[in-house]
Amino acid sequence: MQIIYYCYINRKKRQNISTVSGYLVQTEQMMNDTSLFHFLQSIYETGLMQQRNRYSDLIKQSRRIPDGDRYIVRAPGRVNLIGEHTDYNGYPVLPMAINRDIVLVGVKRSDRVITVHNSDDRFPTVTFSLEKPLKADRAGTWSNYVKAAINELIKNMPAATGFTAWTDGTIPPAAGLSSSSALVVGAALMFMKINAIQIEDMDLAERLAKAEHFVGTAGGGMDQAISLMAQKNHALKLDFFPLRYKTVSVPTDYRVVICHSLLDAPKTEQARREYNRRPVECRLATALIAAELCRAGFSPNNPQRLADVDNDHLPLDKKQYQKIVGQALLPASLDWKTLSRRLSLSKEEIATKWSIPDEWIDQPPAGGFKCWKRYHHVINEARRVNKASRALAEGDTESFGLLMYGSHQSCRRKFEISTPELNALVDIAWKNGAIGARLTGAGFGGCTVHLVRRSIKEKFMTRLLDDYFAGYLRKNRPDLLEKHPNFHNAVFTTQAMAGAGCLKSTD
Ligand code: GLA
Repeated sequence: MQIIYYCYINRKKRQNISTVSGYLVQTEQMMNDTSLFHFLQSIYETGLMQQRNRYSDLIKQSRRIPDGDRYIVRAPGRVNLIGEHTDYNGYPVLPMAINRDIVLVGVKRSDRVITVHNSDDRFPTVTFSLEKPLKADRAGTWSNYVKAAINELIKNMPAATGFTAWTDGTIPPAAGLSSSSALVVGAALMFMKINAIQIEDMDLAERLAKAEHFVGTAGGGMDQAISLMAQKNHALKLDFFPLRYKTVSVPTDYRVVICHSLLDAPKTEQARREYNRRPVECRLATALIAAELCRAGFSPNNPQRLADVDNDHLPLDKKQYQKIVGQALLPASLDWKTLSRRLSLSKEEIATKWSIPDEWIDQPPAGGFKCWKRYHHVINEARRVNKASRALAEGDTESFGLLMYGSHQSCRRKFEISTPELNALVDIAWKNGAIGARLTGAGFGGCTVHLVRRSIKEKFMTRLLDDYFAGYLRKNRPDLLEKHPNFHNAVFTTQAMAGAGCLKSTD
């Protein structure tokens, strides 16, 4: 038997890394073979024994099905260094993959059933058969992320074969580190390997981004793209519609520290509603600016997102453009009457055309549609991403850090996705010498990301534990400490890791 590693990094065509790096090993010896260790070494820089035990446990469990093609898939989580809620607006982001991931070991079946067992018993075994289209389970159920991937991939397939897989994840769930998209990517790669499907990375990333809407969240394309295409020691500046990327190296004399606020950011119920409200307000802002541009004699071509009505595409000077934006989006809170008048459509027509959830048809969300604030966050955040990528590439970490702080303030005040806990963490980071700090991911809880000088990393992490967990939370949210007694694990550092990949064992 042989094991072959396919890596989804920096290539148009998949490379068979086994021929490049020599990771061709005997499956029989795999559990204690140094080759597995070398393979793990090529991915993880620390905790190799733990990783070895983790992979070995999954392989051992998969041996309950003794025969058949066996694959090992790994998909990392991500931290977004800067560029929040810009992706679905057609603007860039700057994430990197982290040292927390999802590993699946799967065996091909002879029928059309998919079964996935999870080592974390909070996530019960998922079983479903490959019917088209797949039906989503209750909102928030983890099975939906597996189904989201498969539902997309079976679309054009006359017949497909199922698999049984065992999975283990180290990405904290509901922490804004993209555990869900890592699972979507992992499930997709497993299904592709089992069914011998080849899809070009960019294409796959774009398809999986849309596919994840299956779970009911209207996210953009950042998470799936970075999990698939990340590169070791680099962040990726991702652009969308169409997807494209540039690598930016992360300076070696600095460390990326991630801290979980302990406030869960689940994409369920209220949080999902709040998340989805932002794309709705951005779509309305796009429509309103487009309508105002038409009135002024400029017709943007089929504008779908804020980047399509950007001044860059128009023969207007800055002042004229800003006047048009003000006329389109002010006052800061818009009601249905104003929307109807400005878009010359009824409330129902607007709701259908821009996919506004039913719950806001009788009454707009609390505080009205805040298109003005959302617009300003998005376009300024997009500028910050461009400047930050340049600063990082030039080694100007001070400027990069200031842009991170600026991004947090904009997320807090204009996009209103921060929480008192995330703000407290950013303040503590600022006082304790972080070069930059901000919330990361969708917001409404989850993690902050910090850039610190390597020399102060340990001290900085201790300060976070003392000032945030033992100080702020003990005083203001003791309930969160009770819910998460292992909070010492909530602070960790990460290198920029490689993207998703797959090991194959053949009989
Ligand atoms: C979630 C989405 C991403 C992106 C971020 C916010 O993670 O999945 O596409 O919109 O929120 O930047």
